[in-house]
Amino acid sequence: MHPYSLKSSKGAPILPRPVFFFFVALCGFYVYYLSFNQITLENRKEGYNGEEQRANICRKPSVPYEELCYVHFPKPTSYSRGECSCTPVRFFVIVSMQRSGSGWFETLLYSHPNISSNGEIFNRVDRRENISSILQTLDKLYNLDWLTSAAKNDCTAAFGLKWMLNQGILENHDDIVSYLNKKGVSIIFLFRRNTLRQVISVLANDYDKDAKQLNGTHKSHVHSKEEAEILAKFKPKLDTSTLIANIRNIEKAIKDCLDHFKSTRHMILYYEDIIGNSNALSRVQEFLRVPVRPLMSRQVKIHTRPLPDLIKNWEDVSSKLNGTEFAHLLDGSDYAK
Ligand SMILES: *[C@@H]1O[C@H](CO)[C@@H](O)[C@H](O)[C@H]1NC(C)=O
Ligand SMILES: *[C@@H]1O[C@H](CO)[C@@H](O)[C@H](O)[C@H]1NC(C)=O
Ligand SMILES: *[C@@H]1O[C@H](CO)[C@@H](O)[C@H](O)[C@H]1NC(C)=O
Ligand SMILES: *[C@@H]1O[C@H](CO)[C@@H](O)[C@H](O)[C@H]1NC(C)=O
Repeated sequence: MHPYSLKSSKGAPILPRPVFFFFVALCGFYVYYLSFNQITLENRKEGYNGEEQRANICRKPSVPYEELCYVHFPKPTSYSRGECSCTPVRFFVIVSMQRSGSGWFETLLYSHPNISSNGEIFNRVDRRENISSILQTLDKLYNLDWLTSAAKNDCTAAFGLKWMLNQGILENHDDIVSYLNKKGVSIIFLFRRNTLRQVISVLANDYDKDAKQLNGTHKSHVHSKEEAEILAKFKPKLDTSTLIANIRNIEKAIKDCLDHFKSTRHMILYYEDIIGNSNALSRVQEFLRVPVRPLMSRQVKIHTRPLPDLIKNWEDVSSKLNGTEFAHLLDGSDYAK
């Protein structure tokens, strides 16, 4: 029998198969169209009930147009922001490396009534296992549903976290950049100019993890001069065969990071600048658009002495670096002018 015959084998007239398929397709398309419409309608409704609507009610005319995407009115699911619900919130992330002063920097920010920084959220592997767990974690955080000791009774106007380069941020940089840009998150890069001092601090901190020099407890940060002096007594011996490669790796990670994230709203801050110049902290507060005030921390710097006093094999280290591209690190002090 001819496949396009107008009669079935039993003789009853039916539609030719192509026409039948056309109607089926049309039907399917119509259903799809209906549901699509409904989804967009729901999205629009959701938007109006959500941040957009609050933004329209709350937004003060003082926010310049080009900054609107960095101003948020989050609605946490776990509590109500109460009288603060119309306090605009800026989202930030401190991107840093171990032993670059980021712990100290965070305590400084913490002393500001309107800033909440929630620590190294991605130190837990399950939160950074893949890009979806990373974005889920960020979503929860920026919805202000992240309840830590950093929670405050004051009206938070800047809310963020600290994120180390070895916590999945470089591996997933493309997706993270587009998330941060879409979400309107600003980045504070905090690095250390003197990477040799950073290496020393890492080694000294690693040593204390085992040695527990302060009455049997390991401390990465201290709150008194006495404690600082005890920790600074230990002078690490640097492995000169890997030193240059180590320093080069650190500097490459910093450079790569700045490269990958250059399209974000960001500022670059160096540890040495915070120590040497109180103006640096004003710049940070202006960047976060919070009222500028003096910031305080109880933390005390551990390694304050000149480099030759900090390293056991100073002679070897200085002759290894002298004459190389890293020679400038030898006379670098943390107290840059
Ligand atoms: C991502 O990691 C989370 C948390 O460990 C896990 O539950 C999830 O299955 C992973 N998703 C993918 C797509 O691998
Ligand atoms: C900072 O917090 C105080 C106390 O809750 C609040 O009165 C003030 O409006 C906040 N400032 C900003 C800029 O959000
Ligand atoms: C260690 O403990 C002793 C006795 O409790 C105390 O006097 C001393 O200050 C402690 N030292 C440090 C560095 O915490
Ligand atoms: C580096 O080498 C030069 C020339 O040999 C020497 O004068 C200088 O003191 C050395 N610097 C350091 C920090 O060892």
